[in-house]
Amino acid sequence: MKDQAVKLRELVDKLNSKNLVFDDNSEEDIIPKEEYKEFKKNARVITITSGKGGVGKTNITINLAIKLAQLGLKVIIIDADLGLSNVDIVLGKTPKYNLSDVINYRKNINDILEEGPYGIKFISGGSGLQDLIKISKDKLAHLLIEFGKLDQEADIVFIDTGAGISDKVMSFIYAAKEVIVVTTPEPTAITDAYALIKNIAQKDKTKNISIILNRVENSIEARNILEKIYQVCYKFLGLTICKLGFIYNDINISKAVKMQEPFIIAYEKSQAALNITDIARTLVRINHKEDEKKYGLRLFVNKLKWFFNT
Ligand SMILES: Nc1ncnc2c1ncn2[C@@H]1O[C@H](COP(=O)(O)OP(=O)(O)O)[C@@H](O)[C@H]1O
Ligand SMILES: [Mg+2]
Repeated sequence: MKDQAVKLRELVDKLNSKNLVFDDNSEEDIIPKEEYKEFKKNARVITITSGKGGVGKTNITINLAIKLAQLGLKVIIIDADLGLSNVDIVLGKTPKYNLSDVINYRKNINDILEEGPYGIKFISGGSGLQDLIKISKDKLAHLLIEFGKLDQEADIVFIDTGAGISDKVMSFIYAAKEVIVVTTPEPTAITDAYALIKNIAQKDKTKNISIILNRVENSIEARNILEKIYQVCYKFLGLTICKLGFIYNDINISKAVKMQEPFIIAYEKSQAALNITDIARTLVRINHKEDEKKYGLRLFVNKLKWFFNT
């Protein structure tokens, strides 16, 4: 087998000679497909976001990831909150390295993966996400090869983002094929969620958008609100969104957060845990099989770089 550095050099030369530029409208990967013969599958990349902050994204991401792992899937979380990053706080672990260490050749992707419960793994984006803006072609090719390894390893990759319609957050949304928008029943949160969905729709009508309603008082309220959001998106945006599910307002979540333990483990019989189980099952059921070959983590990172620069 060729030395990895030599292989990489050849790849970069080839890229330069072909002058491949990533084009959002094509499905062309910056790295020619034949270089990836050894990579057989792609991960399902799902960005989790919200219009308003503090609606429960990080808690949902982690607990959903653990539930999916309990159901037998391999899940990786990428902490991409450029403001208050707190996947580590909810999991009670502090990562030693972040994406920047991979970009700058200090570590391999597997060295920066932190282990969580039930074999879930997480990566801290950290300053590495900023590095993407000015990344050189060599470094990007290297990063894509490293991410290609995760495509092999993971079934699902969750991107836990910050809230709002900032350029950076929107880039994470545009780059992923699937997006989960989290909202609460509060009118302000719903308005912000709708504004966010509208923004996504203006850019890409083919995006798979799902919605989770968090902190509901009862299932009737939940179903009514989900149906209303669904109808408004259909009528005014021409979008068919997926009602992924709802989660009760449950004191066990804040108790678990204080213990720095995921509620799905600390309170496995709680209402919130049951709701997460339903959501996990729905998420598995709506797997967009036809997308599997075309998307994946490498293409996500490649697109992300492109959106960061436009
Ligand atoms: N379903 C819920 N029931 C009760 N409290 C919740 C629920 N969801 C979230 N919370 C509370 O909201 C806080 C913020 O959640 P977090 O996941 O950090 O939100 P975000 O990532 O959107 O900023 C949590 O620390 C928790 O105390
Ligand atoms: Mg968060």
